[in-house]
Amino acid sequence: MIKAETIKEVRDQVKAWRKEGLTIGLVPTMGYLHEGHASLVDKAVSQCDRVIVSDFVNPTQFGPTEDLSTYPRDFERDCKLLEEHGASLVFHPSVEEMYGEAAATYVEILNDMPKRLCGQTRPIHFRGVCTVVSKLFNIATPDKAFFGMKDAQQLSIIKKMVKDMSYGIEIVGCPIIREDDGLAKSSRNTYLNEEERKAALVLSKAVKLGKEMAENCEKDAAKILEAQKDLIEKEPLAKIDYVSAANFDTLEPETQVKSGTLFAMAVYIGKTRLIDNFLYE
Ligand code: PAF
Repeated sequence: MIKAETIKEVRDQVKAWRKEGLTIGLVPTMGYLHEGHASLVDKAVSQCDRVIVSDFVNPTQFGPTEDLSTYPRDFERDCKLLEEHGASLVFHPSVEEMYGEAAATYVEILNDMPKRLCGQTRPIHFRGVCTVVSKLFNIATPDKAFFGMKDAQQLSIIKKMVKDMSYGIEIVGCPIIREDDGLAKSSRNTYLNEEERKAALVLSKAVKLGKEMAENCEKDAAKILEAQKDLIEKEPLAKIDYVSAANFDTLEPETQVKSGTLFAMAVYIGKTRLIDNFLYE
């Protein structure tokens, strides 16, 4: 596996692969990889000749009071996992390499999509995500890019950006990967102490409950949200940020459960903010 730190190295390698007629998949990550990321790499390897994984904690998507400085990092461990899963190149740039000294250009969706759900408490987050993902698309010029469904709002927003900006890249959404007890895999799970780790199960339990209600033909989204909230509020360490139903494509609030309704939540467990969701199909 090639380890690249500069944009030029990635571009030169992509050029060489393109000359050979090879297809390229991109898996954008912020590192500290787990089985969720591995599943994205596996999917990319199964669909593309060469797979680039970016491993970059992107400062522009963190708010001033968020966990940029403490975000977990372990590049050597990441490389081991990526090699095992058949990635061809890992792109691990510095902040200077990605943004230079005076970067002043952002990619931002100007409708309400980035303001909804997580955007209510993370107002600049999706501008940072769209900007860095745009840059990664311009650097790696992939045929396909792979994103996890755990960050459902991110996936929806990236799809919109790709359509609006005519990127010509296929966006592949991949299922949420969970621990054996149901907790959605996340690099941030590492922040949880033993007690919080147990309490965090309330998210996946609420997802399961909502899903069962929807599958049992409950069509009133408010009833499902109420039941999910009641369950979460019983957990003393949990504090709800939001529990909402939205159309997956537009992120507009939805009152009736139908195909494409996303039930999403963000819940603080102690100081750690966790997200989870299910898409009714
Ligand atoms: O999902 C993530 O890890 C990040 O938001 C992404 C897409 C790698 C952009 O920094």
